[in-house]
Order: sequence, then structure tokens, then C-alpha cells
Amino acid sequence: MSDIKKVVVAGGGVLGSQIAFQTAYCGFDVTIWLRSEGSIGRTQPKLDKLKETYLAAIEAMKKAESPADPDWCRGIADFDSFDPEACKAKVEAAYSNLKLELDMAKAVGDADLVIESMAEVKEEKTAFFTKLAPLLPEKAILVTNSSSLLPSDFTKVTGRPAKYLALHFANSIWKQNIAEVMAQDETAKESFDAVMQFAQEIRMIPLPVNKEKAGYLLNSLLIPFLFSALDLVANGISDPESIDKAWKLGTGAPRGPFEIFDVVGLTTADNIVDKYQKVPGLINPLLKKMMLPYNFKEQKAILKKYIDEGKLGRNSGEGFYKY
Ligand SMILES: NC(=O)c1ccc[n+]([C@@H]2O[C@H](COP(=O)([O-])OP(=O)(O)OC[C@H]3O[C@@H](n4cnc5c(N)ncnc54)[C@H](O)[C@@H]3O)[C@@H](O)[C@H]2O)c1
Repeated sequence: MSDIKKVVVAGGGVLGSQIAFQTAYCGFDVTIWLRSEGSIGRTQPKLDKLKETYLAAIEAMKKAESPADPDWCRGIADFDSFDPEACKAKVEAAYSNLKLELDMAKAVGDADLVIESMAEVKEEKTAFFTKLAPLLPEKAILVTNSSSLLPSDFTKVTGRPAKYLALHFANSIWKQNIAEVMAQDETAKESFDAVMQFAQEIRMIPLPVNKEKAGYLLNSLLIPFLFSALDLVANGISDPESIDKAWKLGTGAPRGPFEIFDVVGLTTADNIVDKYQKVPGLINPLLKKMMLPYNFKEQKAILKKYIDEGKLGRNSGEGFYKY
């Protein structure tokens, strides 16, 4: 067991509310710190919805024949010891025990762990960490859930380099329950180990990232993979369906890159193309020989055509595929 008992989540957006709910589901004392009454009005409905989502997931899990069933949620229970009624009781307890707090000093005064999950805006996060630093108790470990900013962007202002690192979740954490635990140069081993242990205690599968790396593990693999697929289309080499078939039938993977694009959403994909075409040396030079020069212009043209037609991916009913 880690020594972590009291957890504060800063930010009650999509991920903050999920992290808070999952942590409370696993029996921790959880407070969500929010900046305004307006934020409470936006976060509470997310928690209401999460409660319903967990309860519906538990119902669906009853029909699963193995833990490989797509309805099985590893963040909710182990297949061999699944007790639906006990899980539902944990959902009810999580929902009623979660606290929302506007006063930062009060929220973090006795925290063992603070999980920053605010909007991806560097200046806002810097201001938050700066304000937080003098309020944190000595014992507290601080983690950021940032997807695209590096933890070292904020080490200085946290005032606790040895007890600061990244803990990065995936969306729908009750189901996609990976947690990438990433150190920055000054993170102490004890803090890293404590966060690895905590991640396991909230039913995540902790994945160590021992050195700071933009994209952690998943996005370091996924983003070049998706770009490579889109580029095959952008260069007129083949079509989305054939490329997906090549990947799925050739490797046994359940989804092809264009099916993944439809899940991520094509607007997000377009933002990523914008962002990554500015990154020099994205691709390892050794791999360059087998890669086409990225045709970002045509990649964007393809995405724009779909986006303009309202085909934004799975959520809109159509993307590269119809649902
Ligand atoms: N959405 C994802 O799939 C995903 C996955 C992994 C990690 N993340 C990371 O999680 C973090 C939050 O993302 P999200 O998708 O939940 O965003 P979101 O926009 O849904 O939520 C952001 C939250 O931050 C709050 N916030 C914004 N500025 C603030 C400020 N100055 N002070 C206090 N609170 C403030 C907002 O009120 C909101 O509750 C980001 O760092 C993002 O990179 C997101």
C-alpha cells in the first residue's frame, strides 16, 4: 500500500472528473478543487453522468464471457472476483463521498497527492502551480496529467522538484485503464514508486516512463502511426479501407488507423497535424528511408473535406466510415 490517502484533483473537466470518480470508487478520500461557482455548475453534471456510466457498465459487464470482452471494464473489477452488487455500492459511495471545494488552501491543506488536470494552457498551469506551492503540506506529492506539455515546464514553480512528476491517464479511465507515470530529471525515486503504487491502487495499469518524453509511450507510438497512414492516402498510395485491412489482417490488431482516427475525431486529428508539422526531426532518421516525405498539405486537405461535410468521426455518426 502507498501512504496516499487524501487526494485532490485540480480541475473538473473531462479527465479531472473521471480521475476523481475512479479514485473515489477505489475508496480514497477525494476532493476536486475548482476555481469558481461556475465550474461547480459544469463539473457536477459530469459526476452525475459518470455515476450512470459506471452503473450501466457494471450491468453490461454481467454479460461478458471473458475479460477480453469489449464490455469488460478493467478499471471497475477483476473478472474472476466480479461482484456486481458490491461494485454498484462502491459507485454510490464514490458519488456521495466526492467533495467539491473552491478554497485552494482548504482543499490541499492535508493532501497526500494533488493531481493537476486543468485545461492545457501553459500560463494557466504555471499560475496554478505557483499559487499552490506555499499551500501544500510537506508530505504531498504533485502530479500533472498534461498530455502535451512537459512536466519540466513547471518543475521550478512547483517548489518541490523531488516530489513532482507526471501521471497521465487515458480518456474513459474505467475502461482504458492505463496510467503513464513519467519522471522529470529531479523526481525522487520514492515519489515515482509511490505514484506507480497509487496508480495500481486505483485499478490502473501503471506504465513507467523513466525519462521525460513528449507523447509518453502511447502517443509516441500512435501519432507517427496515424500520420503514416494518412500520408499513404495523401500521397495517393491507397485508400483508408485497404490500409486498415493491411494493418488488421497483417498484425491481428482489432482496429486500423482510420478506425482510430474516427474514434479520436477528425477535428483533433487536424489540430495534431497543425502541431506536428512544426516539430523538426519527428521521425527517427533511420526510419526516414522507408517513409514518404510527409505531405502535410494534402493530409490537411483530406481532413478538411471530411470536417466540412460534418463527418467528424464516430461521435458524429460518420468519419472515414459510417456508423
Ligand atoms: N481529454 C483527454 O482525452 C485527455 C487525456 C489525457 C490527459 N488529458 C489532460 O488532462 C488535462 C485536462 O483536460 P480535459 O480534457 O479534462 O480538459 P477540459 O477542458 O474538459 O477541463 C479543463 C478543466 O480545467 C479547468 N480550468 C481551466 N483553467 C483553469 C484555471 N485557470 N484554474 C482552475 N481551473 C481551470 C476548467 O474549468 C475545466 O474544469 C489537460 O492537461 C489534458 O492534456 C486529457
